[in-house]
Amino acid sequence: MWTRESLSDLVREKLSGYLFVVVSNREPYIHTFSGRNIVCKVPPSGLTVALDPVMRACGGTWIAHGSGNADKEVVDKDNKVGVPPDEPRYSLRRVWLSREEEDGYYYGFANQTLWPLCHIVYTRPLFDEGHWNTYKKVNEIFARSVLDEVGDKKAFVFVQDYHLTLLPKLLKEGNPNLIVAQFWHIPWPNPEAFHICPWQEEILAGLLGNDLLGFHIRYHCNNFLDTIDQAIEARVDWEKYEVTRGGKRTAVRPFPISIDFEQISSEAQKEDVANEAERLKNMLGLGDEIIGIGIDRFDYTKGIPDRFRALDRFLENNPSYQRRVVFIQAGVPSRIQIEAYRSLKEEIDSLVDEINWKHAIGRWKPIVTLVENGSQLTLRALRRMANFCIVSSLHDGMNLVAKEFVASRFDEDGVLILSPFTGASRELNGALLANPYATDHFAEAIKTAVEMPHSERRKRMQKMREVVRENNIYKWAADIISELVKFEFGE
Ligand code: G6P
Repeated sequence: MWTRESLSDLVREKLSGYLFVVVSNREPYIHTFSGRNIVCKVPPSGLTVALDPVMRACGGTWIAHGSGNADKEVVDKDNKVGVPPDEPRYSLRRVWLSREEEDGYYYGFANQTLWPLCHIVYTRPLFDEGHWNTYKKVNEIFARSVLDEVGDKKAFVFVQDYHLTLLPKLLKEGNPNLIVAQFWHIPWPNPEAFHICPWQEEILAGLLGNDLLGFHIRYHCNNFLDTIDQAIEARVDWEKYEVTRGGKRTAVRPFPISIDFEQISSEAQKEDVANEAERLKNMLGLGDEIIGIGIDRFDYTKGIPDRFRALDRFLENNPSYQRRVVFIQAGVPSRIQIEAYRSLKEEIDSLVDEINWKHAIGRWKPIVTLVENGSQLTLRALRRMANFCIVSSLHDGMNLVAKEFVASRFDEDGVLILSPFTGASRELNGALLANPYATDHFAEAIKTAVEMPHSERRKRMQKMREVVRENNIYKWAADIISELVKFEFGE
């Protein structure tokens, strides 16, 4: 079993003398003003949830966009601050972007082009030359920051996600001795879907700057290799899962990302979580209702309206559950500058009003939303209170909410209703799989969940806990590091 300690030992043994640098768009800690004070928040991002424990174990530097309005106040002359703030274990180095750069690169190319291009959810990607040019410029800004951080030291640079597709090639051009790996946190679509991108060749060439490129599941690796095969001049070795281009090799491998199981499981058992659950029940006027939960960034890939429609259908088909089931949807608005996200938020609000109006009896209403006031403690309490949790993504690379729910259930109870279009569904065999596009089928799954006997709930949860306990985030990082070492040093 991999732990924080055994991962630290592995890094000391295999990467001694190497600087460990993680690069991502989103930073793991954001400083913002609250009145006159500065507060430090953890953003809602699967990527940062997963990588923070790895950085705590490995040490090193995490380079990311400084997006908080008080971020500049707390850094030193090298734009660095030690994090986590209460017990610094690694450095966060911030990259500054102008409003225009953030607009074109983050809101534009990353989230209106690559995000809908890679998630097959029928939202049309936008191909805007201006966004693309800004995206290229910002990738260069990140490259300069990494090269400056590394200097002439030996380093292992671990790039994250779709915001930085051009960075690996730029890094290798700037310093060929760097070892560069990248993890792609979202799905990689089939070649037909990817080929519509007018700049596919430059993006693929950028990614082939990596020594190692990781996806959550083998299917995404296959899609990537198929895309390469059809789009650019390169040799794909299907035996070895490698691409060679201009003499440079890139290994492509699946590494299903995960969470710090033990940490989440032990935090869930604390008294303050039980107290918070009581507080929430009082605040929401709950008694012994069956509680369902959803915890999401408000993103159109998460199937939030779809799950509400299924709840509506469940109540229509099973009126005896009126007053007996309450679904609590927690979440945060996300990327709200983008029209598709703004209209999603409006759709969610009006759907909740409509469903609540239709079914409400007296004080009871079927859906309660907790928007933006979901502190980590509240989320822990929700996971502990829930009889069932819904993850209904229309397409999702992995989905760590599902794994967090499983890790939280130290009592081996609770049912997970999971979309088969998530990477997590490949591992979590104890979940009830339900297609979010098929409302009746999904409504049936909700009925099965609320009526499932205790012995079956327990059996399913035990099975899922085994899987997540063993395949935790430390194993994920250790597998990537071991693979890199194999390629770089011929081990
Ligand atoms: C997904 C992406 C991450 C991103 C997260 C939150 O999980 O893979 O890269 O950080 O969404 O989105 P945001 O745009 O707020 O960083």
